[in-house]
Amino acid sequence: MPLAAAQKRLKASLKGEVRLDEPMARHTTLRIGGPASVYAVLDTLADVAAALTVLAEEGVEWTVVGKGSNLLVADQGYRGAILVLGREFKRHSVEGATMTSGAGAPLAALVQEAFQRGLSGMTWGVGIPGTLGGALAMNAGTREGAICDVVDRVTVYLPGEGMRMLHGDEISWGYRNSSLAGSGIILESNLKVIPGDRLRIRAEMERALARRKGTQPIGTPSAGSAFRNPEGDSAGRLIEAAGLKGTRLGGARISDIHANFIVNEGGATAADVLGLMRKIIRSVRDRDGIELEPEVRFLGTFGEA
Ligand code: EPU
Repeated sequence: MPLAAAQKRLKASLKGEVRLDEPMARHTTLRIGGPASVYAVLDTLADVAAALTVLAEEGVEWTVVGKGSNLLVADQGYRGAILVLGREFKRHSVEGATMTSGAGAPLAALVQEAFQRGLSGMTWGVGIPGTLGGALAMNAGTREGAICDVVDRVTVYLPGEGMRMLHGDEISWGYRNSSLAGSGIILESNLKVIPGDRLRIRAEMERALARRKGTQPIGTPSAGSAFRNPEGDSAGRLIEAAGLKGTRLGGARISDIHANFIVNEGGATAADVLGLMRKIIRSVRDRDGIELEPEVRFLGTFGEA
């Protein structure tokens, strides 16, 4: 059994904590998800190297998870290894106009740090959940800005190759995606932050937060936007126009506040969320001829509709 061998070897070789059959509901903002065969915290660079070697040798699938804020994990769980960046990758520091941070740091901590030091360029990140690594992988942002606007360099660890440093312009950045996704493990990034006026930074942050609070179901478990916005339109608008706002399935519900958010009102399963997503896709296709594409990442095996 490659999984059992990998579990044993990871437990023996990593500094960071290794848990077996860890319920992913504890690690996703939707509070949904069955067990991951391995849940390993990588505290050091040596942990990263060791984990990738063991998983390659044992032929076990793996994926990196940040704060689980854009993730739908199957009720049956994930037969593979979830890798999470720990201690050494949560630190950040500022020197001049450069903020250097491990990919495991919460984006919110970097937004706050920039504000405290009167550095601008990060205000778009107010209220965006997740880690820096997750933000880089999906080019997180809003209409006001995105992480790609401030990236100077990113350090990644490529399986079989080791560390590699990429300049911001060597990375392809798209709408809610980047070429960093799926290619190794993002370890660290240097962000360009420029001195600004603290009062203005605060005002921008307050405006962004107020807008978010007024239009999104903050405080109820969700995975953020369920679908990407189609070119020139808005998924939320289309879902509302299809009459689906407030639709319930089991413990999941299409938010009354923003139709592109599916919330867990308590006890929702991944199947409930997926059922609502399929209903949305069908309804919008039938009504508008538009094929909505999920923004949330799926992990594990899901049944057919
Ligand atoms: N709308 C409706 N009904 C709804 C929701 C929205 O008609 O239920 C309409 C709004 O009135 C507005 C338009 O749709 O005219 C766009 O809505 P909104 O301004 O809320 O922005 P969005 O396009 O739905 C995007 C991002 C959010 C980000 C906000 C603010 C996507 C898929 N979503 O939302 O990102 O917070 O802009 O910048 O790109 C995320 O990616 O997880 C996320 C929350």
